[in-house]
Amino acid sequence: MSTNVLKYTSKLTGKNILVFGGTSGIDFCVAEASLEYGATVTISSSNPSRLSTALSRLRTSYPSSSITGYTCDVSDLSDLSTLEENLTTLLDKVTENGAKKIDHIAFTAGDALSLPIVKNVTPTTLFSLANVRFVAPIFIAKLIPSYMSLAPASSFTITGGVNSSKPAPGWAIAAAWGSAIEGLMRGLTVDLAPMRVNVVVPSAVKTEIFERLGTERMETVLKDYAIQTTVGDIGKPEDVAETYLYAMKDQFVTGSVLESNGGRLLVYMDFREGKPALPVHNVVMKLEFVQSSVFCVLCLVSRVRDFKMRGSPCGFL
Ligand SMILES: NC(=O)c1ccc[n+]([C@@H]2O[C@H](COP(=O)([O-])OP(=O)(O)OC[C@H]3O[C@@H](n4cnc5c(N)ncnc54)[C@H](OP(=O)(O)O)[C@@H]3O)[C@@H](O)[C@H]2O)c1
Repeated sequence: MSTNVLKYTSKLTGKNILVFGGTSGIDFCVAEASLEYGATVTISSSNPSRLSTALSRLRTSYPSSSITGYTCDVSDLSDLSTLEENLTTLLDKVTENGAKKIDHIAFTAGDALSLPIVKNVTPTTLFSLANVRFVAPIFIAKLIPSYMSLAPASSFTITGGVNSSKPAPGWAIAAAWGSAIEGLMRGLTVDLAPMRVNVVVPSAVKTEIFERLGTERMETVLKDYAIQTTVGDIGKPEDVAETYLYAMKDQFVTGSVLESNGGRLLVYMDFREGKPALPVHNVVMKLEFVQSSVFCVLCLVSRVRDFKMRGSPCGFL
């Protein structure tokens, strides 16, 4: 087969891809998939031991691939200059001091979801939710012009959540930051043009992020999320990872909210019942029932009318 034929599967071959996160969940799968496509991949993490475990898993699965990792705790925003300094150090390493430009950045890092609710929010809990997911991508964007080519072939993909469009009870603040991430993406698309910027918006995906709930509670929560989709299942990180890969490969996709949500936005929840409203096949059955009832009533009315007019119960036959 000539290499010309491989114009789709070779789109990421030899590309320099940086995944913020990369040690677990969706991020790890983005790193795996990028390696499968023949890219040179760097993962970053806030935790040296998790980083070394992830690197050895990736090296075992893809022995001939090019994979590197660095720690960079992007959550430390108590001193903004530290964040920028950390990011600059990381980007210098990944690009060999700017010599080897980054082609794609996938930002999937997210710390433990503390989920402050409005009735007891404080300034600290309000902003703590935003540090990694919202503020860090802004500082990355600030540095991007020094480390990436501002061209359609390059991309910066950040991560939101379906709760910004369809918040569950108690998710108002998370929904607000999620919406801010989508707005940030649109602004950056204009500011960094013609480079491409997109946001991936997953709904519930079974990753390590749920593990801190404990096995029993996690299973209940995941089951609850599964019934809130049209596919009737929870997401798999290796499926959602495809959306990040798509954002890298399609040089015409930019300024977009890319959903991977199992149809979550289309399921109407009956709040009184606390479960999804009638599935479609039940609705069809109900319609059929209504149709046949209407038909019966019309027949009856017609028979009565005929009986009155002709004095025969069979007059209409
Ligand atoms: N899973 C879902 O249901 C779901 C749904 C919607 C949106 N999302 C969003 O998608 C993103 C990925 O979620 P996931 O489920 O794959 O989560 P995950 O498995 O917990 O992975 C999170 C990643 O972020 C990194 N990270 C955590 N704290 C960090 C910090 N302070 N600095 C730098 N990196 C840090 C972690 O690496 P280290 O711990 O090694 O640093 C890890 O690689 C998150 O932003 C999450 O909010 C997830």
